[in-house]
Amino acid sequence: MKQRSEFEKVVYDGGFRTLLSRDQIDQRIREMGKQITEDYRGKQPIMIAVLNGAFLFMADLIRHVEIDLEVDFIKISSYGDAKVSSGEVRMLKDINAEIQGRHVLLVEDIVDTGLSIGFLHEKFMAMQPASLRFVSFLIKPENVKTDIPIHYIGFEIPNEFVVGYGLDYKQILRNLPAVYVME
Ligand code: IMP
Repeated sequence: MKQRSEFEKVVYDGGFRTLLSRDQIDQRIREMGKQITEDYRGKQPIMIAVLNGAFLFMADLIRHVEIDLEVDFIKISSYGDAKVSSGEVRMLKDINAEIQGRHVLLVEDIVDTGLSIGFLHEKFMAMQPASLRFVSFLIKPENVKTDIPIHYIGFEIPNEFVVGYGLDYKQILRNLPAVYVME
């Protein structure tokens, strides 16, 4: 018999628990987009997605932000293929845009320990933006070890490893349409 893919196991075999449904995600992203629209009206922010995890979230979010904005992408790595942070952040792809004097929104998939946003905060503050705010689709409040404010949070979730909607396990399962807990 053909071996089941990890995708099939999640979607069809019920081996994973749904934490956030597609409807919940859509509704929350619409609210977040509205809030950002109101907060940034009259400005032209640059929204920078932190790859790879935030690509889906940012793509959906900006369709609900009804002002002029720019996008860019940055790629960092802290986890490798593990389920726990390696404690070290590496820059894998830098942005191209000029940041000085700009209103910057850094868009993350998930804040776990906060190590990644700590690294990004230091890097971007050194570039003298007009303002810098973080947006995160998910946050695990029990794990966070940083005081850096996250202005826009999609959902607070328990300390469990999640996949789907951009979030991976060993680089796969990002294409799942909802968020699932890997048991
Ligand atoms: P932090 O630096 O500890 O806050 O970790 C942030 C990064 O770890 C995220 O951008 C994700 O790439 C990854 N990460 C943390 N928790 C999870 C999870 O539950 N599933 C998938 N990736 C995660």
